[in-house]
Amino acid sequence: MVFKNTFGIPENFVPSAIKRKSKIKIAENGLKFGNVGFNVTRRGVQLSIKFKSKQEIFGFGLQMKGFNRNYGKVKTRNDADPVGNSGNTHASVPLFFTAEGRGYIIDTFRDTTFYIGKSKKRKRTIEKDNKITLSTEELYFGDRTDSYDVNVEIPYCEGVTVYYIETDSLTQAVKEYNMLSGGGCLPPIWGLGVYYRCSAKFCDRQVLDTADYFRRNDIPLSVIGLEPGWQTHSYSCSLVWDKKRFPNPNKFIEKLNEKNCKVNLWEHAFISPAAPFYDEIFPYCGNYEVWQGVVPDFTSEQCVKPFINRHKELVKQGVTGFKLDECDGSDNTGGWFFPDNAEFPSGIDGEQMHNAFGILYQKTIMRALNKPTFSQARSTHLFCAPLPFALYSDLYEMKDYVTACVNSGFSGMLWSPELRDCKDKKDLLNRMRLLVFSAQYIINAWYLERAPWLEFGAEQEAKEILKLRESLIPYLFSAYNVYNKTGLPPIRAVVVDYPMDKETYSLQDEYMFGESLLVAPVFDGGNKRKVYLPKGAWYDFYSAKRVNDGYTDYESDNMPVFVKGNSVIPFARKISGSDNDVLFEIEPVCYGEGGTFTLADANGKTFDLIMTEGVLENTEITVGNYKIISGKNS
Ligand code: GAL
Repeated sequence: MVFKNTFGIPENFVPSAIKRKSKIKIAENGLKFGNVGFNVTRRGVQLSIKFKSKQEIFGFGLQMKGFNRNYGKVKTRNDADPVGNSGNTHASVPLFFTAEGRGYIIDTFRDTTFYIGKSKKRKRTIEKDNKITLSTEELYFGDRTDSYDVNVEIPYCEGVTVYYIETDSLTQAVKEYNMLSGGGCLPPIWGLGVYYRCSAKFCDRQVLDTADYFRRNDIPLSVIGLEPGWQTHSYSCSLVWDKKRFPNPNKFIEKLNEKNCKVNLWEHAFISPAAPFYDEIFPYCGNYEVWQGVVPDFTSEQCVKPFINRHKELVKQGVTGFKLDECDGSDNTGGWFFPDNAEFPSGIDGEQMHNAFGILYQKTIMRALNKPTFSQARSTHLFCAPLPFALYSDLYEMKDYVTACVNSGFSGMLWSPELRDCKDKKDLLNRMRLLVFSAQYIINAWYLERAPWLEFGAEQEAKEILKLRESLIPYLFSAYNVYNKTGLPPIRAVVVDYPMDKETYSLQDEYMFGESLLVAPVFDGGNKRKVYLPKGAWYDFYSAKRVNDGYTDYESDNMPVFVKGNSVIPFARKISGSDNDVLFEIEPVCYGEGGTFTLADANGKTFDLIMTEGVLENTEITVGNYKIISGKNS
């Protein structure tokens, strides 16, 4: 159940003011003053959320450096280059869940600080047994407190609204948050295919040659992305085609479409004097520049209209998506964003706009895109689940990428652990395999002359991996359909599905992919790791052999993936089409004795694939985008 409590007088510009309509009922006043302390000091709002026992705490957005926050400090602030585990990241949000199934969403764009387990002064008696700690482990990571409260500080405010979710399981709490946000997004089927972002230096001919390379070699490709070089001016942006490189954009897009490729354009929102609408929006922008471009006040209609109109023209030319870059800002690398004390004409200050910029930008772009899209953004905020954008990063540590996969699902976020250049062939294949089991498959070759696998003579292996991704599109699309209807994220921490299993409280390097796959990546070209599988029957995804639950030392040259017992996986082969008319041949495989998979078609209509003792009911039929052929028992 979702409750809404308002303490004091909140600011006007808050995340809930721009959120989609909730798909779940909201009740008032679930939090009583007994379990939440509210106070305003000259530092702003102080909330004290009281807990009687130690809580396992998850959330805070796309965290890349940490997982369970049952003690310490987290400060939420969007930043392109998170360093350390302090809380800042591309999409850092004031929200947390407890393993017991509670959720707390602090409705603010302010940089918000959470102090977890800090005990307030009280008269104590001398402890009888003065234990000496002999290791840093004991000292810093043992039980450090006997207070379990979470204190929250929201600067500059005199009040705040808290959305409080009370359920009996973490699974349900996460689902309810996404339904409160308006339901998970449902990308078009083509959006789950392969994105290839070409070198920023490429001209139209080179881009078309790239698409031909994929088609000639039968390597899956769905979307071509253009990087800054498509524009006459890109840091800041003109949003105008560079006619030297792209003399006839309409024809160029048409040719790509003939090759069954969609087109996605890179941009950021700092508008150059070379943009045709610069003068028009100038008075409605913030009072600071970024890269000598003006910064739109996305909450002002006068500012947003010309911006939307320019994008509508691009969409009319056939563009189906945008990569909204650099909307996160950076404190740690060069500090290239507008300052926190910037002023925007609507009255919003730089700190609020800093955290809101990504989500406002996405919402503005969605007004121009009147067709289905699955795009990219480098930042977002609370209640973002309905927005069809995946997050990405310039950082490249694979461990951080996996941590982001694990954490993204708590906050309604989608994350792409994109592929760029690689150390060696093992690194390449490992990263490519991780992408198979991710929200969006992006190969970001923006500074590479050719596909990364060509450096290592790994074309055949790369092709097989991309084909595996393609074969899982109906499975993944069905998971997005569930996200849309119920709020269960397609990619989520194992604890979301197994909140009663204490071992999952620290499981930062494994995650659930769709209904029944558990992914346990190996890192840095290695092939060994310890895998934890919750109690129950599990099968190896590739060999279909039964594997033990609990901890196992696992060795494999492939990405370790496990299937929950009695699951049906609808393996697919693309036959024809590229849009909603795409047709897949489905050969379901059952891991275990029997099971059901609910397959969703492009219109969201569902069909149950039922297998009993390895035999599929309803074979040889075509439903929606799927031609179903006889299934297999693993
Ligand atoms: C970065 C972005 C990269 C690439 C580059 C182009 O900010 O993260 O993926 O697009 O800009 O300049």
